[in-house]
Amino acid sequence: MAVRRIITYPDTLLRQRAEPVTNIDGRLQQLIDDMADTMYRAPGIGLAGNQVAEPYRVIIFDTSAKDEPNDLIVVINPEIIEADGMVLGEEGCLSVIDYRAEVKRAERVTVQGMDREGDLITLRKEGLPAIVLQHEIDHVNGILFIDHISKLKRELYKRRLKKLMKQRESSLQRM
Ligand code: NI
Repeated sequence: MAVRRIITYPDTLLRQRAEPVTNIDGRLQQLIDDMADTMYRAPGIGLAGNQVAEPYRVIIFDTSAKDEPNDLIVVINPEIIEADGMVLGEEGCLSVIDYRAEVKRAERVTVQGMDREGDLITLRKEGLPAIVLQHEIDHVNGILFIDHISKLKRELYKRRLKKLMKQRESSLQRM
């Protein structure tokens, strides 16, 4: 297992529609283990393949509380087959540095896909796990949560990010 580098906006890899997984092989198991390591280390509650520069339709998430044991859920080739209700929740993303915003999502979703053994699974979720599922499935479709906010908010964030990057560059040059 290894912690991978998480790529961040505006990296164009995040905009690629990821490829369906066709082989459940050792390489995929390695990727899933690495993704789990990377997510827990960050720490985050969800991660998609493209975020570690692997353009495959694999998502993982764990919304267990801090005092609960880990509950890692892996979904390969996830598809939302049903969605209803509407909730507004604050979201952040390991690939979107230093930003959170309210996003509208379906309240309940039913997602089909495969688990890491390749067996078909159906997940019916509501609340936080439903939001995370929609956020991660967006990732494998090349969509980020900032695509769901107003253009004005997005432009303000882009401007702030540019400044932040400049500051980081100049602090690196001083070392
Ligand atoms: Ni994200």
